Amino acid sequence: MVFLSDAVSAFAAGVSPVGLRCEYLSNPTGIDETQPRLSWRVESTQRGQKQTAYRLLVASSAEKLQAGRGDLWDSGKVAGAETVNVPYVGKPLTSRQTAYWKVQAWDKDGRASAWSEPARWSMGLLRSSDWTAQWISFRDTAPLHTNRSTLFLPPARHYRKEFASAKTVRRATLSASALGICELHLNGQRVGDAWFEPGWADYRKRTYYRTHDVSGLMQRGANCVGAIVAEGWYSGYVGYGLLVGYGPNKVGRYFYGKTPALLAQLEIEYTDGSREVIGTDTTWQVSGDGPIREADLIMGESFDARRDDPGWCRPGGPDTRSRALAGWAWELAIRAEENGSTKAIFSDNCGSREVELGFQRPPRLQAYAAPPIRLTQELKAQKLTEPKPGVYVFDLGQNFAGVIRLKVRGTAGAKLRLRYGEMLHRDGRLMTENLRKARATDYYTLRGDAGGETWQPRFTYHGFQFVELTGLPEKPGLDAVTGLVLHNDTPLVSEFACSDEGMTRFWKNTQWTQRANFIEIPTDCPQRDERLGWMGDAQIYVRTASCNADVAAFFTKWLDDVEEAQRAFGAYPDYCPYPMGHGAPGQTWGTAWTDAGIICPYTIWQVYGDTRVIERHWASMTRFMDWRKKRAPDLRGRKDGNTWGDWLNVKENTPLEFIDAAYFKLDAQWMSEMARAIGRQAEAAHYDQLQARIADQCARDYLAAEAALKVHTQTAHVLTLAFGLAPEARKKSIAADLVERIAQNDFRMATGFLGTKPLLPVLTASGQHDLAVRLFQSRKFPSWGYEVEQGANSVWERWDSFTKEHGFEGAEGNQNASMNSFSHYAFGAVMEWAFRDLAGIDTDGPGFRRLRIKPGPPAPGSNPDRAPIAWVKAEYASVHGKILSQWKRSAERFELHLVLPANTSATVFLPARDRTTIREAGRDLSAVPGVKFLRMEGDRAVLDVESGAYQFESTAGP
Ligand code: BGC
Repeated sequence: MVFLSDAVSAFAAGVSPVGLRCEYLSNPTGIDETQPRLSWRVESTQRGQKQTAYRLLVASSAEKLQAGRGDLWDSGKVAGAETVNVPYVGKPLTSRQTAYWKVQAWDKDGRASAWSEPARWSMGLLRSSDWTAQWISFRDTAPLHTNRSTLFLPPARHYRKEFASAKTVRRATLSASALGICELHLNGQRVGDAWFEPGWADYRKRTYYRTHDVSGLMQRGANCVGAIVAEGWYSGYVGYGLLVGYGPNKVGRYFYGKTPALLAQLEIEYTDGSREVIGTDTTWQVSGDGPIREADLIMGESFDARRDDPGWCRPGGPDTRSRALAGWAWELAIRAEENGSTKAIFSDNCGSREVELGFQRPPRLQAYAAPPIRLTQELKAQKLTEPKPGVYVFDLGQNFAGVIRLKVRGTAGAKLRLRYGEMLHRDGRLMTENLRKARATDYYTLRGDAGGETWQPRFTYHGFQFVELTGLPEKPGLDAVTGLVLHNDTPLVSEFACSDEGMTRFWKNTQWTQRANFIEIPTDCPQRDERLGWMGDAQIYVRTASCNADVAAFFTKWLDDVEEAQRAFGAYPDYCPYPMGHGAPGQTWGTAWTDAGIICPYTIWQVYGDTRVIERHWASMTRFMDWRKKRAPDLRGRKDGNTWGDWLNVKENTPLEFIDAAYFKLDAQWMSEMARAIGRQAEAAHYDQLQARIADQCARDYLAAEAALKVHTQTAHVLTLAFGLAPEARKKSIAADLVERIAQNDFRMATGFLGTKPLLPVLTASGQHDLAVRLFQSRKFPSWGYEVEQGANSVWERWDSFTKEHGFEGAEGNQNASMNSFSHYAFGAVMEWAFRDLAGIDTDGPGFRRLRIKPGPPAPGSNPDRAPIAWVKAEYASVHGKILSQWKRSAERFELHLVLPANTSATVFLPARDRTTIREAGRDLSAVPGVKFLRMEGDRAVLDVESGAYQFESTAGP
């Protein structure tokens, strides 16, 4: 029902609320935040529109909401512009509850909008007593595999349970967790579209669970619920773990336990008000005879289609109807604890210790807070070659992570092999040297269907562009292999293009590489035997990640994993989750890697205005800082822990003590800002002092009397300026030295992971923007453009991971192909600069409410190597809506098409000789509504601009 007053005011209001989200997700099911945060955007076609008040209605049913009855919460009219992360403070929410909500906004003239479209969220199982299902498993008689020279790849297990449902279903909800990874089924259909459920946590402390509304899959009468369960991260091979593990051979699996287990609970509500729960217990059946003969995330999957039967999860009973049910041996599941315990010796760089590998009930079940991993795109094969007879190589045209869909025809029993690679050797062979111990191979045994057969794996993924298929008697068609792109479905939020096509391509490469590595956690690379949540890579890249996609929920989830992995003494480990360790202390952290525990929450706060992430991890971050302080009472950097340092620098090693002091200073500064944001004034003051004292100590240790820095690397200069290690008065000369060093190095970078990210921002901030753009556009080794010119369609671990001249041996012909990933985002962190300082889209303070728009056209003719970038078109969908900055610079003229979303305003730094040369849509500034001229700052006119669309023009240049 629409109220007359709504209809009238809707007609008049200048804003309309849209894009409703709860905990950053749209209509999430089964969350466990008891005060979930609600967000929306206001849209407007008018300049300068904003929200001056809002009202939220939350109801226990769609009908009540429609009738305007917020029986769970009616916020009343709340004055303010807040639209992001407004916490629900209505009636306490209970397990399983669905909440329906809508919002109304008042515009700047106090006119009320119509109510938004309705949205909803549902609560998961909040108390452990809500779980009546039991953890079940199969009887595991396999001995512990301790031999590293052979792989142990057990089959995936199928679990099923038939049940009758005689009444009309109002709602059916399936909640499930696993030690391992699982795919849920109901009545022959796959439940949902998420891959690798429920997710990777430290299963000794916690597991994730997911909730699906399966009302639509229920049948009246006989039903069958089931799950396929594979080892996943729980007991399967874990990338980097291939170097460590159990037994004399240190086999890299069983990091959390030996035998996968399943917990599933189907809750049915009938229209007559009664309820029924079908939970996993020992009446479920389990079989290891299904078609998935091997299922390992990193090694690959092996499928025998002769054993397949889509009827395995349909009601009908084991010895009737379907081929598999008759052919597979089914037995009753056991309680997971019945497998008993296996003691094993685990060894890693923390030493050896005895570990219990039996089932342990995870003490906590947590709802998965990130967008699920989904198949988001399909890639058609572009090319098919046959480098050797019978060896077919498909080129999917793009480096990505995921799996393939195979479509073939052949004789029953023929076994096909699929290998994956990122590159080809010159002779057309697949390049697999860089996979190291990752087998990355799938097998498919044909059923022999006359009409052909189709298959895609479920429990593995690979990082690749090329697929090698062997085992077919004759050449397949190009459509035999289709690429399936997988990643956590973080919505893409930007577009970027500029007059330098190579750099437009580079941006695309970061987007691809980000998608390939945001799979469950932010990984370093998807292909070789690593795939860990390397902290250094994540902190370097997090801001760029946020420019490419909405990563708020993804990082919200991962930061819990990070806190969970924190070592007892306070450091965050090198990668999170941290499956090794098993409680052993050990030096498992490294400077600038460990600091991701501060840098990532800080960045999420800055980009999304999220203060809860700070509150949530405050105690953990404080423990970390206490450790850092205790470790360095003299406030100097240390050289302990893992010494990754300025990783992959080009022949310029910066001393670790220096880097460590620099990061200590940054942590303290950001802690003080975060403390202030959550009202912890005393701690803010403490960290403020601490950062100033560390900076003083740095100045004493590293600044020579005569202006120069004592550490003669580009990175040291960059970090000094970026992190504020030198007094204001010294900055100019340090910046000049940095420029000098770059010039002496033939205008090439020498920086590694740590120095490269802040290099261009520091140059721009020091008045060297033209040089920053010149480096951005460089094609000389090492540079982003160099990589693009060598054919990169993704971001490479090394600038010269491949060169046309030396192949995989690097620019100087002496590189080792094994540490050579073609999907490694760290050096892609330059895109943060491209959005902020080149396109000129930045936030002024947390959360993109007040914007800082400072387009960065380089001076025409400022680059002796190539035409400096003359136009940029960038779009970024912030939490308040889409921002567009599209600029064009010619000799003297500057044009800017700017769009600022409603409810925001901006300080715009417009290149202009003086105020009088500026026009907006042909008008003099004084006649333009929404724009206020503030002052001239050098060659920029500083304007205060309200939301809306603008066409600025000016005469630029000195
Ligand atoms: C990973 C990195 C990581 C590094 C630590 C490498 O093997 O791939 O990107 O940060 O180890 O130095």
